[in-house]
Amino acid sequence: MPLLESRPELELVVWPEDRACDRSWLLENIPGATGVIVMLTDKVNPELLDKAGPSLRVVSTMSVGYEHVDLAAAAQRGLKVGYTPDVLTDAVADLSVMLALMAGRNGGIGVSLVQNGEWPNFSWAPFGFCGPQLSTTAASPTRKIGFLGFGRIAQATLARLVPFGITHCLYSSNPSSPPNHQRDTDLAKKYNLKAVSKVNVDELARESDVLFVLAPGGQGTYHVINEGLLRKMKKTSILVNASRGTLVDSDALAKALKEGWIWGAGLDVVEGEPNVTIDHPLVKEPRCVIVPHIASATLETRRDMATRAAQNLVAAILGGDMPAQVDLSA
Ligand code: GLV
Ligand code: GLV
Repeated sequence: MPLLESRPELELVVWPEDRACDRSWLLENIPGATGVIVMLTDKVNPELLDKAGPSLRVVSTMSVGYEHVDLAAAAQRGLKVGYTPDVLTDAVADLSVMLALMAGRNGGIGVSLVQNGEWPNFSWAPFGFCGPQLSTTAASPTRKIGFLGFGRIAQATLARLVPFGITHCLYSSNPSSPPNHQRDTDLAKKYNLKAVSKVNVDELARESDVLFVLAPGGQGTYHVINEGLLRKMKKTSILVNASRGTLVDSDALAKALKEGWIWGAGLDVVEGEPNVTIDHPLVKEPRCVIVPHIASATLETRRDMATRAAQNLVAAILGGDMPAQVDLSA
């Protein structure tokens, strides 16, 4: 991290491996630290903060999500918390579209068929391997895209889908945030859509051809996508989750796929990750495409996230404003 190394006033202690930091190493090394950069795999809880002791002033997470940070405990200790929004928006939106296409077009099944050497046994057939088409056609001119959560990443995903000819954007978001009719009208006009509408989650489930879950995790979001909601979805619909695994009830989703309530799912995150093995009910579902929480994993974006995390840390230590600070008063 050149940005940190270039500051002789900072004494750095760096976990030497390119993988999640061992908890024991972190607990051993944090006492007396002024600031700490963490990843979403590091639980920042009272145990860790107490270990750090009163010298700690800032926690900087290299992630846009921060539900692994106990904000109340941080506020109580007068800490500043930084995160890395914006710089990963495009990378996550790109991968969300990839997951929608992979899930709809049997991408996962196709790749494993070829890798398992089964192509010679597979006959091209007029209706073989067909899945629902994301782009509109003359005979199928309507496509409704739904978003659970309508922040930066959701809106960047919407922008990517416009050239597919989508016609409607539906979204549900935090009930406490008021509808933004002007923004919605402006978006509909900008993208030449029939409508951009805020709806309740039942309508979102019923109407969406592809439902993207792109809401922050944390309080009040546990299993928002549950059996009741999955049963309301279209049989040809796709569910994509690139936010946090806890938003989706995995058992209900596995049942939905097995029994054909929905067509397919594309997941970047799964509840209980990384302990998702070949026995997991979702891994066993052929129409479930799962990648291991890599939505922001591009060379460009991870560099930008690391830089932002370092900038946040340095700014807070030197007493300035962080480029991206979590509001602890909320
Ligand atoms: C990734 O999931 C992040 O929160 O940055
Ligand atoms: C979520 O944090 C987003 O950037 O949409």
